[in-house]
Amino acid sequence: MYGLEGRRAIVTGAAYGIGKGIAARLLAEGCEVGILDLDGEAAEKTAAGLRESGGKVVAAAGNVSSRSDVEAAVAKLTAALGPIDILVNNAGVLKVGKLLEASEADWRSHFAVNVDGLFYMTRAVAPQMVERRKGAIVNIASWMGKSGVAAYSAYCASKFAIIGITQSLATEVGEHGVRVNAVGPGLIVDTKMRDESEIKRKAEGLPSAFDRARDIPLRRPGFPEDIAKAVAFLASDEASYITGETISVTGGLWND
Ligand SMILES: NC(=O)c1ccc[n+]([C@@H]2O[C@H](COP(=O)([O-])OP(=O)(O)OC[C@H]3O[C@@H](n4cnc5c(N)ncnc54)[C@H](O)[C@@H]3O)[C@@H](O)[C@H]2O)c1
Repeated sequence: MYGLEGRRAIVTGAAYGIGKGIAARLLAEGCEVGILDLDGEAAEKTAAGLRESGGKVVAAAGNVSSRSDVEAAVAKLTAALGPIDILVNNAGVLKVGKLLEASEADWRSHFAVNVDGLFYMTRAVAPQMVERRKGAIVNIASWMGKSGVAAYSAYCASKFAIIGITQSLATEVGEHGVRVNAVGPGLIVDTKMRDESEIKRKAEGLPSAFDRARDIPLRRPGFPEDIAKAVAFLASDEASYITGETISVTGGLWND
């Protein structure tokens, strides 16, 4: 455990998958947690499930790629929790497709959610962190934000952008006591995104996540809890001299 008792956190895209795992870990660490998701019904259901193990969890519906949605959801969560100490920008989309074949809509959706979403969330939450001289932001990038991969051009471009924003913002807010880091997950199963991408890969005759995991040095795919541990560390005072960093959590699939 990383000593996060009493901190207030917002996790985006926490109705399912990695975000849900992060919300559960922060709750177990003693945080009060706000979850923000496009799927408001699923977010409420996830919040209710997490509350069963004790602690405060509040849900808000909203599309991170809409500035007005973000402002309304952050206002709701801040009113319920108080000033936010930890922001985890996790919401993201992935559409498999080669650059020369992808639709313009698919291309744009990666940037609308993965990049604009992070921009709006950060602009809505970080100013109060700067004002209070206290805060940690953790962005969920990907190993595909460090390496280009065939059929994932738009996704990779959006994740490279997240690592660029992480490094830049860290240099802007460091003097105000706010740290900004990222986690780059590898092949993570038990998520909605992975399930959907596996269906598409199977239809195209491509190997499954578990087949591909045989080539990962640690010989298994990752789980949301693997990412959640790294997020809890980066959000905590144990990481008080780390900023602008992107930690790969890939079982050795990618180490840069
Ligand atoms: N699963 C993997 O292998 C993997 C690997 C590397 C990085 N990631 C990253 O981890 C993050 C979480 O992915 P996941 O695998 O848990 O996927 P997921 O589909 O299970 O979860 C994504 C969540 O984001 C929400 N969401 C999507 N669009 C949104 C929007 N516009 N506004 C608000 N919420 C929105 C979804 O409703 C969902 O709850 C993403 O940023 C993804 O790119 C995943």
